[in-house]
Amino acid sequence: MSENKLRWGVISTANIGKHMVIPAIQASRNGEMVAVASRDPQKAANFAAELGIPRAYGSYEELFEAEDIDAIYNPLPNSMHLEWTVKAARAGKHILCEKPLGMDAAECQEMDAAARENGVRLMEAFMYRFHPRIEKVLERVRDGAVGELRFIDSAFTFRLRNPNNIRLNKELGGGALMDVGCYCVNVSRTLAGAEPVEVQAFASWANTGVDAHLSGTLRFENGLVAHFDSALDMERRESVLVAGTDGYLEVPSSFVPGKADVEFSEYRGRSEKVVHTLAGTDEYQFMVEHFADCVLNDRPLRYPPTEAAANMRVINALYRSARQDGRPVSL
Ligand SMILES: NC(=O)c1ccc[n+]([C@@H]2O[C@H](COP(=O)([O-])OP(=O)(O)OC[C@H]3O[C@@H](n4cnc5c(N)ncnc54)[C@H](OP(=O)(O)O)[C@@H]3O)[C@@H](O)[C@H]2O)c1
Repeated sequence: MSENKLRWGVISTANIGKHMVIPAIQASRNGEMVAVASRDPQKAANFAAELGIPRAYGSYEELFEAEDIDAIYNPLPNSMHLEWTVKAARAGKHILCEKPLGMDAAECQEMDAAARENGVRLMEAFMYRFHPRIEKVLERVRDGAVGELRFIDSAFTFRLRNPNNIRLNKELGGGALMDVGCYCVNVSRTLAGAEPVEVQAFASWANTGVDAHLSGTLRFENGLVAHFDSALDMERRESVLVAGTDGYLEVPSSFVPGKADVEFSEYRGRSEKVVHTLAGTDEYQFMVEHFADCVLNDRPLRYPPTEAAANMRVINALYRSARQDGRPVSL
């Protein structure tokens, strides 16, 4: 491993890598983007040239053989995360893998075990958790800004226009809950600081068999209820509302706010409103820098794979409910 930089390789020419994560690695203080691999050598070469990546490989396996690569970024379709994350771990590479980490909790556990057995780090790439705003929101909630938590309402919806997109493909792990609802489940569990005891979901199914939109409810033991909407067929909406006995917080553009300055509002009593403004930043860069820091300095990851497995357990239960027309499912 080079002195103070993590040397990254990316498997595939995925859009999220191209537009967000690779530029973040290239801008990071402790990372270096060394190589890209694609199923198609020409695609890899063109992608490398366009993004200024020094090396290109015509298969993912070839990239794993490179000794001067320490970490893999895995943005493959969801159903392929398990296979390629385990292969990367066996090749001795640390792995930052896209969300959701696996198709179910068992897959997350299998990846976790592979990482442990091979002495490498594995983290799910939920970048929104690294934005200082969500950290501040969590701090305000823990400090009692809204009193006792009673209700969380979140949404992540958008309208997918390309019928060939991986999100509409059941075999590849598509679906609204898998793609965007997973953020709502994650933020709800994080704000609650607990796991739900019961969930319920209602979905509309696309003709490809994936959930085109899905609304879910998580019930926690202390009476807290979290509701969310996720969709691939609705106008874009990202929001989080956290309400308690004494007030509530509203977080607009909650998950992908971009690099501009961001706000959240705190309402207390009948008329008190405080708007918190935070300087713009790149949550993807914060995420890759955290991962690299942990690998380079042998520090624990803030979000271990067990946390990804816990999120998937809830997602899997929500799907069980939705497939049974909303029958509540206990966890
Ligand atoms: N954190 C975020 O903000 C965020 C945002 C969007 C997506 N994501 C996650 O990132 C992952 C990729 O999403 P994306 O929208 O970027 O995907 P995408 O553009 O469709 O890219 C997926 C890549 O996987 C490779 N691939 C290998 N086998 C494939 C197959 N059978 N079908 C399709 N592609 C195949 C392809 O690369 P090659 O042909 O080059 O091998 C393709 O470019 C997903 O897990 C998604 O949930 C995260």
